[in-house]
Amino acid sequence: MSDDAQNPEPETRMIGAFASPIMVRRAQGSDALNARLAQTVRNMAHSGPSDDDYRAHQGGFYSDVTFFQDAPDGAAELQPIVARAVTDYITRVLGGSLRQGRVEISAWVGLHRERDYQTPHVHAGTTISGIYYVQVPPGKPEPQGCLDILNPLDLQEMTFLRGFAKTHCRVHPLAGDIVVFPAYCKHLVHPFFGDGERITVVFNATVVQPRLGKTMQE
Ligand SMILES: [Fe+2]
Repeated sequence: MSDDAQNPEPETRMIGAFASPIMVRRAQGSDALNARLAQTVRNMAHSGPSDDDYRAHQGGFYSDVTFFQDAPDGAAELQPIVARAVTDYITRVLGGSLRQGRVEISAWVGLHRERDYQTPHVHAGTTISGIYYVQVPPGKPEPQGCLDILNPLDLQEMTFLRGFAKTHCRVHPLAGDIVVFPAYCKHLVHPFFGDGERITVVFNATVVQPRLGKTMQE
């Protein structure tokens, strides 16, 4: 009798528990749409102050969170692209569509130039967050302009296997990319140096659950 017969491979399965799913979707929109959106964002940055309350950015411009409702040029075309990305993300994470609840999406825009950056932060109070990259300065070496989504399991890095435990997941974005990730994941954006602008539409997708029961006041 062979060793294999005496010691058969034991039935084994590995469970990828506690994963934080991140979706990167490339080449959305079009060059024409991105050119229109870029001009829209430049106009917004030129005509009003940055909405800086509770923001993590250092330098640059951010609008308030009514980009899709205000519907400046390009917003109406981008909205279904973002909505589809959120729906596809949820479907891939759950292995099917939401069984209850509805999704509310809010969006704002950002414009960043040389040396602007974002400190680590979460998007509190929502479910899923994402970024659509309208324009990215070309040819910047990593990590310039990169998005780092930080590992929420910091204990992993302290004690677990090297090569498996990672501090962050890095995305080096291109124009037309959409990145979707859990809103609880801290993330940061590295500065870039030299010419160019990074223009983004950032969004939150909040899953609103139906109320489970009446409250004491009802
Ligand atoms: Fe953010």
